[in-house]
Amino acid sequence: MTEKKYTWHKVADYVSELAFGDNQIAVVELKGKKICLGRYREALFAFAYKCPHAGGIMADGYIDALGQVVCPLHRYKFSMANGRNTSGEGYYLKHWPVEIRGDAVYVGQEESGFWNLFGA
Ligand code: FES
Repeated sequence: MTEKKYTWHKVADYVSELAFGDNQIAVVELKGKKICLGRYREALFAFAYKCPHAGGIMADGYIDALGQVVCPLHRYKFSMANGRNTSGEGYYLKHWPVEIRGDAVYVGQEESGFWNLFGA
């Protein structure tokens, strides 16, 4: 299996500058588009700003006791780690890997393109 390759984008210079709400979700920009960063047990997860079901604003949802993000509109639940729709409606929440390097926060976007087909 080919290993995934990512291009990493800095979304914050410092973890401490992220504006987490009471719901432990912050909004940052990834290449000019809003995405969410969710914090659960000191780990950070990046996922889409809008819900794949009907466009609910995920940043207005919450993270439950199991570390799943819950959409505020119809309360569908998603794993922040793999995007799985854990409440079973069959949707998929786009998500990205997060790395902390020094103090800065980076989000990885999977590289796509011809050469990746061959693992180049
Ligand atoms: S819009 Fe998110 S669950 Fe319906």
